[in-house]
Amino acid sequence: MKILAIETSCDETAASIVKSSDNKIAILSNVIASQIDIHQKFGGVYPEIASRAHTEQIIAVITASLRQTADSLQQNSKKPLAVSREPLANIDLIAVTSGPGLIGSLLVGVNAAKTLAFADNKPIIGINHWLGHIYSCFSDNENLPQFPLLALIVSGGHTGLVLMKSHTEIETIGQTLDDAAGEAFDKVAKLLDLGYPGGPAISKIAIDGNAKRFDFPRSMLNRENFDFSFSGLKTAVLYESKKHKLDDKTKSDFAASFQQCVIDILIGKTLKAAEKYQPKSILLCGGVSANKELREQMKIAIDNFNAVNLSAIHYHLPPLSLTGDNAAMIGIAAAYQIANGIRPTTFDQIDVNSNLKLK
Ligand code: KG4
Ligand code: ZN
Repeated sequence: MKILAIETSCDETAASIVKSSDNKIAILSNVIASQIDIHQKFGGVYPEIASRAHTEQIIAVITASLRQTADSLQQNSKKPLAVSREPLANIDLIAVTSGPGLIGSLLVGVNAAKTLAFADNKPIIGINHWLGHIYSCFSDNENLPQFPLLALIVSGGHTGLVLMKSHTEIETIGQTLDDAAGEAFDKVAKLLDLGYPGGPAISKIAIDGNAKRFDFPRSMLNRENFDFSFSGLKTAVLYESKKHKLDDKTKSDFAASFQQCVIDILIGKTLKAAEKYQPKSILLCGGVSANKELREQMKIAIDNFNAVNLSAIHYHLPPLSLTGDNAAMIGIAAAYQIANGIRPTTFDQIDVNSNLKLK
């Protein structure tokens, strides 16, 4: 089965071709047109401009994803390509992010997907963006997560913990009550004048910083639930930053102390959930999972947890190319959903839902 996947929930216009056969996934193309340059001057994503940029990019991105497939196939095959004239003819299913996300952005991808499904009479499936991030950890056929799994999704728009007992038994056990973790990185970067997106900028200067200099509140860590809150942390950084002259050393200390606080909260909650649900795998995914310190400290924490609890939880990360928003993860999620009995629909049954929840 060959899937054309489309993702436009925030500020990346993305399309990908994913092939699945005998339960093996192959990403044939993964095209992403980023809008970072456009939103940089606003210090964050500007929704109306995002949807306009998606409209301008979507056809080119889909076309490129179909072409890139053709190119990669051409290298691997001696036969002339049939897809070059009618690339869509070889597509068996269209998958598209139907929510959650920015409504204007989602609409561009969903309408493009519906139009192609209608015009070519293809089946279509709507994929939850969170589920997409989770399946970014399923790109390595030789090292697949095992159920029950616990997934920590940390991105610019979302932060949550999801428990999956199988590909179709999915429960969100906690989420942020206010800001997402990535959003906190972006806001703190803004107040330290580091530009957008904030995550990479903070992690870069944090390397030279003293993570113990500022002791920010590890909010929600002592609560008996799996929800998160990051807006108090952002405010604490704001107030503390006003007491100091923000030279390079002080900025690095702020970045390192803030980053460590976020990491402690994320790891603390994840391990608390691991104690309760005893998963076989822990997955770390979403844009913030590109953070090197978080990736490494989570590994150490899981190793320690396993040693103390005599457990053998496996740790799974997406490759760096799939941490941020992309369409390959949407295609992989679709492949697994279809393989596990979820039926695709026709174009007229797909709708956007900017608040779509993962059950
Ligand atoms: O998953 P994503 O591309 O978009 C959403 O679904 O929201 O995540 C984008 C977020 C941004 O907030 C960005 O600052 C953050 O991921 N991010 C990072 C790093 N790289 C990207 N945060 C911390 N450290 C990083 N290295
Ligand atoms: Zn995302």
